[in-house]
Amino acid sequence: MDHFIVEGGNRLEGSVTISGAKNSVLKLMAASILGRGMTHLSNVPRIADVFIMADVLRELGATVEFKDDVLEIDTSSELRTVASYELVRRMRASFNVLGPLLGRYGHARVALPGGCNIGMRPVDLHERSLASLGVAFSFDHGYLEGVAPELTGSRIVLDFPSRGATENLLTASVMARGTTVIENAAREPDIIDLAEFLNRMGARVHGAGTSTIEVEGVEELNSASYVVPSDPIEAGTFALAVLATRGDGELVGARPGDLEVFLNKITQTGALWTETDRGIRVSISTRPRSVDFVTLPHPGFPTDLLAQMISYLATADGTSIATENIFESRYMYVAELNRMGADISIEGHHAVIRGIPKLQGTQVRATDLRAGAALLIAALSADGPSEIHDIHHIDRGYEDLDDKLRQLGARVSRISETSPAFLP
Ligand code: EPZ
Repeated sequence: MDHFIVEGGNRLEGSVTISGAKNSVLKLMAASILGRGMTHLSNVPRIADVFIMADVLRELGATVEFKDDVLEIDTSSELRTVASYELVRRMRASFNVLGPLLGRYGHARVALPGGCNIGMRPVDLHERSLASLGVAFSFDHGYLEGVAPELTGSRIVLDFPSRGATENLLTASVMARGTTVIENAAREPDIIDLAEFLNRMGARVHGAGTSTIEVEGVEELNSASYVVPSDPIEAGTFALAVLATRGDGELVGARPGDLEVFLNKITQTGALWTETDRGIRVSISTRPRSVDFVTLPHPGFPTDLLAQMISYLATADGTSIATENIFESRYMYVAELNRMGADISIEGHHAVIRGIPKLQGTQVRATDLRAGAALLIAALSADGPSEIHDIHHIDRGYEDLDDKLRQLGARVSRISETSPAFLP
């Protein structure tokens, strides 16, 4: 167990290279199951979630290894079709192997992922929509088992543009007989990445990135290579760290098209952003103005930047109202922020953020991945030192976060908690 020690108050300035997108690479790794050969993924972030997904693939019988900067996944041998609770409970995105296993073998037995600190995270949309392709599901002892002697294309309308359900539908339907149409599909960048990767494998996916995706089934798929694009959520996180410290930073690799609504919102607070030939540059020289914002499925404001935006607005001039529309309880960490002197109250899906001039450093603990990043942003802008505990949450989705922040001038260090003296 490690924790961060942060000395707040430094303006963050300079350039930092954003790593490959966590929420893309995990799906590409799962989709590699559909090919009978060697998959090569590059620009893969070395984060805990990638290592867990690698263990899931190994449990199924694939070989997975980093060769220099390339992740090689060999799925040429016949794979097992059971994903155990031990691995799925460690990372709910393991559930994304359901679609590819059904697509390649017509069978999958996957432990049901539980809820997490941000919500119940049900999988009913996955189950209902895959059943439309002819999958017969049964549930026993915490496992969902799907059997499909033959997958048949169908028109599916998702109640909600679920990313996971869209992804499992894509990977199950690429070798179905006939055509599948997914209406109200998720539109996030990782959906576009997955479709592009599947098409490189020989699939025929059209319309990814829009609400209607059409998949023409093919006989077989071949393994392929792919470069994982820059992580939009990491880029947004760093943008807010720079702005919270009134700094000026360049996010190398970041793509403005992934973050349009977010960039509009920070502009409304008085921040400046420009596209450079390497990425996005953000800066602010005054105290930010307050702003209201709501989270929505892409292309709306990403829920995965809610916590970080609240940390930024905690010291804005005025009162901001945030509305979380995707998950039912993504405000757990606000109590920690208020211990740093923030003045935030939660009313249902809304957070009322009354801006104060300065946060004060103290000991806090991360409650989930993005909350941990948000507390780090708050500590960087606070007066005096902070300790951030339970940072294993942060290590799940951010590669070398403290190194990168130090590159921008942050005074942050990682302390290994080996002795009882450090117990939080
Ligand atoms: C993905 O989770 C991301 N994870 C999450 O990022 C992100 O917050 C979320 O999408 C929303 O954008 C990965 O990509 C690995 P959903 P996912 O299916 O696919 C409800 C992070 O910090 N729902 O779009 O699980 C669900 O309860 C993580 O990187 C159902 O009701 O999200 C939630 O309220 C956190 N039934 C909403 O839809 C279902 O069958 C969004 O879920 C499926 C989902």
